[in-house]
Amino acid sequence: MRAAVYHQFGGPEVVYVADVPIPIPKSNEVQVALFATTVNSADSRLRSLDVPRGFGLIIRLLLGPFKPRKPILGVDGVGTVSAVGSKVTTFKVGDRVAVCPGIRLGCHAEFMCLPEKGLIASIPPGLDFSNAAGLLFGGTTALVFLREKVRLRAGQKILIIGASGAVGVCAVQIARSLGGKVTAVCSEGNSALVRSLGASEVIDYQSGEYLTSDTKYDAILDCVGATHFSEVRASLLPEGKYVPLVASLPEMLSGVMQSLGSGPKVVSGDAQITRQIIIDLLEMGAKGIVQSVIDRTVPLDQIKAAHERVDSKRKRGAVVVLMSPDAGSESNKV
Ligand SMILES: NC(=O)c1ccc[n+]([C@@H]2O[C@H](COP(=O)([O-])OP(=O)(O)OC[C@H]3O[C@@H](n4cnc5c(N)ncnc54)[C@H](OP(=O)(O)O)[C@@H]3O)[C@@H](O)[C@H]2O)c1
Repeated sequence: MRAAVYHQFGGPEVVYVADVPIPIPKSNEVQVALFATTVNSADSRLRSLDVPRGFGLIIRLLLGPFKPRKPILGVDGVGTVSAVGSKVTTFKVGDRVAVCPGIRLGCHAEFMCLPEKGLIASIPPGLDFSNAAGLLFGGTTALVFLREKVRLRAGQKILIIGASGAVGVCAVQIARSLGGKVTAVCSEGNSALVRSLGASEVIDYQSGEYLTSDTKYDAILDCVGATHFSEVRASLLPEGKYVPLVASLPEMLSGVMQSLGSGPKVVSGDAQITRQIIIDLLEMGAKGIVQSVIDRTVPLDQIKAAHERVDSKRKRGAVVVLMSPDAGSESNKV
């Protein structure tokens, strides 16, 4: 099968397309023929080891101290079940599924295997492969943090910094669907987009002051690492929650310490994605509650360009990679 592989940490140039053996499912595993995947900020960080301060050693231990142990990146994908192990009962050949193996990786390939009880869910009718792929990374992250950790409720006010990225575009829509009132921070060029997704106010980060003590929020989600808890504290209500998606380890620890007393709290760490989160997100996608924003779609052959686009940190929503040259509209039907 064809796969994008890398054998050293570095820039987009370390990724190339090669022929590798098709993975064979174990008795408890499902093999998926992937239609599409994404290159996202997680792939970029795992490829380059450009991680927030304090996480370098942990990531090296996970991925391989000197070179990547797993040569195929890709934290999510969509496709069709192509084979199942002898003990698999939940999925059958031909099922349309979404997979989110996360740090187990392997989605930048034509085929991947994962446990039947792993992070795999059926794609409901009404949601095509490309749109499902475009939702997975940002949507699962936003759903975990806003619904499960912040527990955003109807009528609450949330400030979303970096509202035009993969997480941001989903966070705006999910916050709205939970009844939140969204103030979005993005560049002027992305203002119309985030408004169309449900933001009631938009502030241009290049010209506007978005942290003022006049307006207090129930939650602040920072998707770009532009703020620290000490700066946002005055803009949070007493029970407010601050979610820094890009915090360094010292910032995370000091945030936790500062949250021990009364007053606003820091909610940080990794998005703990569950199968239910994927199911709920796909359902929201099928109902049109959350729509994917796709920056661009490229074939697997151009995956290096996809990494370059992600590294630019300027993309709007998701960069989708189609796995096969004939992965056209026919096989993308819902
Ligand atoms: N903790 C977790 O579990 C978790 C999970 C997922 C992601 N993350 C992290 O969250 C971050 C965001 O991920 P992502 O995939 O959403 O990123 P992304 O798609 O690469 O974000 C790109 C967007 O950020 C905007 N942007 C850049 N600088 C900005 C600023 N100063 N203020 C406002 N917007 C700005 C850009 O808009 P312009 O071009 O208009 O500037 C662009 O649209 C990544 O660092 C990722 O590692 C953490």
